[in-house]
Amino acid sequence: MNALAKQSRFSQRPLVRNGIHGVVFKAQDGLAHHAANMIIEQLRAKPDSVLCLPTGRTPLLTYRKLVEAYQRNEVSFRHATIFNVDEYVGLGKQDQGSFATYMRDNLFDHIDCPATKRFIPDGRAEDLQQETRDYETRITEAGGIDLMVLGVGNNGHIGFNEPGSEATSRTRIVKLAPQTLQANAADLPQKKRPTEALSIGMQTIMEARRIVLLAMGETKRPALEHLFARLHPEQWPVSLLADHPDFTVLMDEQALPFKVR
Ligand code: GLP
Repeated sequence: MNALAKQSRFSQRPLVRNGIHGVVFKAQDGLAHHAANMIIEQLRAKPDSVLCLPTGRTPLLTYRKLVEAYQRNEVSFRHATIFNVDEYVGLGKQDQGSFATYMRDNLFDHIDCPATKRFIPDGRAEDLQQETRDYETRITEAGGIDLMVLGVGNNGHIGFNEPGSEATSRTRIVKLAPQTLQANAADLPQKKRPTEALSIGMQTIMEARRIVLLAMGETKRPALEHLFARLHPEQWPVSLLADHPDFTVLMDEQALPFKVR
């Protein structure tokens, strides 16, 4: 690929709207490259960083770039601690369709983050309430989250904080909205479709020292519209992120909810 084509592949422009900082990318490849670099720079600055990562389609290309950077010895996760934002109730570490399986397949099996430093809520815990309390304790014991990377659902959910989630919520059992179940159905086992999940709470998310939101595709436009307008955080949880002191949203042109002059 010639330099010009490479340049346009990564072409991006910063924006600030309503006090919210964002970067718009022409191509999803450029967004993933930027997101991966933010994580790499975080780990270079603080090798024992505590990260919290999402699942879904949006971060897949970012994870692939992280694996490639690790394979080129450009980053190490050896001293990092990594939490995940959510897991389905009833799906366990080895289940097809669980987020634990997703993270192993797309990241953990290909990098050097020790298994003892990777945490994801256990959807098959005997006592789910205790599991949610233990998860919060683990985050506190790790010293809190240095860098929280999030995707966003079409209905504005972050993690599995669905519309109506309290700003003060902690890690808890959540009921999945019909729109979410429909959007995620393709990745779930036919026979035992979960209807609930374990999700870190909005308060837990907002306590992270830095938050980066990734949004790609026009289905995310309504969520970003509410975010940038700081509208209805109780019905659009993503809007709460606007109040975070160190927040950036990385989006492609399709997800951008307004024309940038
Ligand atoms: C899923 C996950 C979220 C994710 C969101 C968007 O339900 N619980 O963590 O950010 O939906 O997923 P996608 O990136 O596939 O659009």
